Amino acid sequence: MCGIVAYVGLKPCQTLLMEGLKRLEYRGYDSAGIAVIQDGGLHVAKAVGRVANLEDRLESIGNFHGTTGLCHTRWATHGGVTEINAHPHTDDKNGIAVVHNGIIENYAALKTYLEEKGHVFKSQTDTEVLAMLIGELYSPAEGIDLEAAVQAALREVTGAYAIAVICEKEPDTLVVARKGSPLLVGVGNNEFVVASDASAIVAHTAQAFKVDDYNVVKITPKGFRTSTINNVPVTPKIEQLELELQEIELGGYAHFMQKEIFEQPKALRNCFRGRMDVRESKVVLGGLNDHAKELTKARRTVLVAQGTALHAAMIGEYLLEDLAKVPSRAEYASEFRYRNPIIEENTVVVAVSQSGETADTLAALHEAKDRGALALGVINVVGSSISRETDAGVYLRVGPEIGVASTKAFTGQVAVLTLITLFMARRRFMSNEQCSDLMAELDRLPEKIERVLESDAKIRKVTERYIGKENWLFLGRGYNYPTALEGALKLKEISYIHAEGMPAAEMKHGPIALITDGMPAVFIANKGKQYDKVMSNIQEVRARGGHVIAVATEGDNEIRKYAEDVLYIPDIPEPLSPMLAVVPLQLMAYHAAVLRGHDVDKPRNLAKSVTVE
Ligand code: G6P
Repeated sequence: MCGIVAYVGLKPCQTLLMEGLKRLEYRGYDSAGIAVIQDGGLHVAKAVGRVANLEDRLESIGNFHGTTGLCHTRWATHGGVTEINAHPHTDDKNGIAVVHNGIIENYAALKTYLEEKGHVFKSQTDTEVLAMLIGELYSPAEGIDLEAAVQAALREVTGAYAIAVICEKEPDTLVVARKGSPLLVGVGNNEFVVASDASAIVAHTAQAFKVDDYNVVKITPKGFRTSTINNVPVTPKIEQLELELQEIELGGYAHFMQKEIFEQPKALRNCFRGRMDVRESKVVLGGLNDHAKELTKARRTVLVAQGTALHAAMIGEYLLEDLAKVPSRAEYASEFRYRNPIIEENTVVVAVSQSGETADTLAALHEAKDRGALALGVINVVGSSISRETDAGVYLRVGPEIGVASTKAFTGQVAVLTLITLFMARRRFMSNEQCSDLMAELDRLPEKIERVLESDAKIRKVTERYIGKENWLFLGRGYNYPTALEGALKLKEISYIHAEGMPAAEMKHGPIALITDGMPAVFIANKGKQYDKVMSNIQEVRARGGHVIAVATEGDNEIRKYAEDVLYIPDIPEPLSPMLAVVPLQLMAYHAAVLRGHDVDKPRNLAKSVTVE
């Protein structure tokens, strides 16, 4: 949600910190701040809004030249979007500055305790409480240095955190810690870059280690020491970052969302590589091999996710029931977690998440595991919290997704759920032929997506025609009911146009009252089992003055009689069609946002990864 970058080394760090912050801006962007130690004191600058505003502020007050510093880009949880609430937060005694991702759940009790001790708070944030607590415990005279004070403070804290802390009295020291919110330490030569996301590190070093839960790392230019919050030494494993710099750059595109929509053919080729043996009619998923027997015996699957990942999970539900014949349901992870769910024997829970850090999804996974389910992950970010807590899983392999509106991760999630379905189906009821045919179709899918992408200019034109309309409907049936939900979500997220997605049949049970003259209704009307029924639903909209934009199968000329605009996709078996049908909807949302002048990669109020429940 928020982003952290911190540095300790021999070079002035402001430029590096600000560059890193810009790379993390997609994670939170309502305010930003930086703290650097220089000339014996702590220097802080903050600004509301984008990182660029913080740069302007630094320019006007005079740039920092210190070699130990930290910075943060915020997505507000506690306290409104103000400069005072922006991080870093400082204590009132020792020149300590803290940046924090996550939530300190017992902050109110800690705040009362600290107020009784005479501390006066300036902000409404939980993070300021942490800064004050570290300051209160800091006592070098008694041997409690910054590292020990951070350890002691974290022993009092419940909640989730990734933090970085500096103190003007220890100018060459950076202390960082984690519980539940990701944090990486990049290891260079006499310098270290810490960040909540590898994209802020990769330009400086490819060597890094993940900080584990309840671990604290004390870092100086000479080296680092890792321990638990109880001061038990720990040896971290330094690994090579797999991220390539070009993967996180725009490379000629105007926005990351646009780049990622166009990357989908390549992303899916990567996702499928080595996983389908068409001749042997076999899906090869190394991550599931150890659990193949349990999956064959599965009596039920429950797919838990949020947002776009939930829509992918809903398609997974259709796939698993239809093709693998496993009773399945997709659920909001947040609802599943708190409704005392019944987990029968041989239940498989599948957590679907791009980031692997979504707190609601992680909590649902814990609940299901505690109740005896086998836990699978369908995750993009390797080594993320959810991926570490599942029994087995399949990574998406679609590359980093920076755009806040999820696109290639969605098609990747559906692709992986399709592979998992085939993996299970072949061990249950599916014939050789059916499996081989579907795999051959999957193999051709990237090329078919390329064909859809070629109609980008037409999609833009159609979007332009309706750009003044404030209310849209997205309708589909069967496999493409979740696609309709995803189309509506994309439009809402980045263009702020009100859009409702629903099963096409449901419209006549109430929402039809919304239809007025000229209201755009997007139908996913490709060839499939319910094509005729969709046609009837189209007529119902037309009869009330609605304007129909249909996503239809190439060669379907008939539909032109019923729809004002038709966006064609190549023919494909119905179970695989959402991965094609969603592409025009992604492009429509993208163009709508651009045409309305919005910042596509930084939509208002949203965060890329939501690590609070
Ligand atoms: C946030 C993002 C959504 C995303 C959802 C789930 O709300 O804004 O785009 O779909 O989280 O994220 P995940 O990382 O679990 O897929």
